[in-house]
Amino acid sequence: MDVQAEHDRQAIDILKANDRGGFTVPTSRLYPYQWNWDSAFVALGFMTFDIERAWREIEMLFEGQWDDGMVPHILFRRDDPDYFPGPSVWQAGKNAMPSSGHSQPPVAASVVRELVDAGGEDGERRGRVLFDNIMAYHRWFHRERDPERMGVIGIVHPWESGRDNSADWDDALMRVEVAPDLGRYQRRDTNHIDAEERPKQAQYDRYLTLVKFGRDCGWNHENIARNGPFLVADPGIQFILMRADRDLLALAERCGKDAEADEIRGWLKLSEAGTERLWSERMSAFCARDLRSGDFSGAITSASALVFYADAGSAEQRAVMVEHLTRIASKVDYAFPSLDPEHPRFEPKRYWLGPVWMIMNYMISRGLAEAGHIALAERIRSDSRRLIEAQGFYEYFHPETGEGCGGGDFSWTAAMWLAWAGPGWDRTKAA
Ligand code: GLC
Repeated sequence: MDVQAEHDRQAIDILKANDRGGFTVPTSRLYPYQWNWDSAFVALGFMTFDIERAWREIEMLFEGQWDDGMVPHILFRRDDPDYFPGPSVWQAGKNAMPSSGHSQPPVAASVVRELVDAGGEDGERRGRVLFDNIMAYHRWFHRERDPERMGVIGIVHPWESGRDNSADWDDALMRVEVAPDLGRYQRRDTNHIDAEERPKQAQYDRYLTLVKFGRDCGWNHENIARNGPFLVADPGIQFILMRADRDLLALAERCGKDAEADEIRGWLKLSEAGTERLWSERMSAFCARDLRSGDFSGAITSASALVFYADAGSAEQRAVMVEHLTRIASKVDYAFPSLDPEHPRFEPKRYWLGPVWMIMNYMISRGLAEAGHIALAERIRSDSRRLIEAQGFYEYFHPETGEGCGGGDFSWTAAMWLAWAGPGWDRTKAA
C-alpha cells in the first residue's frame, strides 16, 4: 500500500473508531460528546467514503436544536465523568438532550450544501428537511447575537467562538469579575493534556463565571447578550456565518424558497456593512472587538484570515490582508498559526495562541484559492499535508517544529485529510 493510501486508511479508521452510533466524538476521553462544528467538519470526511453516514452526522447534530433555533456547542447524550464542565454544570438543553448553553461557529449550512451538491435524490430530500432547521439556526444567530442589528455577530463566551483561549478575548475576558460563589471545581482537561498547552486558571475561572451567568438566568439569550459580562464581536463567526449564509442562499434558490432567499439576502447586506466595524485602522486588519467597550483586540489571528472564505471586505482591505497573511506565513515553518507570531502573546504550543489547526487551514486555504491567491492557498495545504504525514492526526500542531499536540486520533484532523489535505482533493479537482 502506498503511503498516501495508508494515511487514507488511518483517517477512515479514526472516524470509525470515534463513531458513537451516528455521531462522532472529537477524540475519545478528552472530548467524549458531540461537538457542533467538529461534527460539521467530520461530515466532510465521511462524505468521501460514506455519504449516508455524513448526512447522519448532521441530522444527529440537529436533534439537539433548541426550540428557539440555537444548535448548542455540545450535546450531552449521556453523562461522562471524564469531562468537565458536564451537563450538571450547564443545566441546559431539552430534557431528552442535555446540552451546553451557547453555540459554536455555524459551519453546518456550508457542509449541507456540499452534501446536496454531491447529488442523489435522497440528498435533495434530506437537504430540504434540514433547510428549515438551518434557517432557524441562522435566524437565531442574527437575532440573539446581533441584538442591535449592526451586522456584527458577538459571542457571549470564548467557547462559542470555538477558539477558546485566543488572544481575541484576553482583554474582555480579564474584565469579567470572577463570581465570588463559583465554588471549588476540578478541571479534567489537564488530566489528559499537559497544562502548558491548555488555557490558564485565571481564564478558566472566568469561563465558568460566564457559564454561571447563563445558568442563573435560565439561558435567556436576550438577557445574556444585553446584560451579560461578555459580548465580543468574533471575526471567526462573522466570516463563517457570512459564508454559511451564502451557501444557505444557494440552497434556498435550489429549493424554490423565495421568501427565505430574500431574508438571507437581507442578512448578507447587513453583514457586509457590519464587517466594516471589525476593521481596525491601527492594526490595518480585521480584528475582534469588544462590543461593550468598543475596543479592538489588537491581534491578527487565524480568524482574521477567514475574510476570503467569507468573500468579505473591500478590495483595499483584502490586499492588505494578503500582505498580513504572507508575512505571518513567512515567520513559521508550518502555516497557518492561530496567532500572529509577532504578537507578544504568541505561544506556539498553547492551544489557540499559536498552534496550527487543520479546520482553520481548510477554510483559510479554500477562501484564498477562491479569491485567486493560489500560491498562498497551496502553501497552507501542502503544509497541512506534511504535518499529518509526519506526525499523524493530532488535534493541533506546533507551527515551528511541526510537533503534533493535544489529543491524538482526532476526528476533524482525519476528516480534513480525507476531504482536503490528502490526495483525495486533487482527485476531485481533476475530475
Ligand atoms: C476545544 C476547541 C473547540 C472544539 C472542541 C472539541 O474546545 O477549542 O474548537 O470544538 O475542543 O474538539
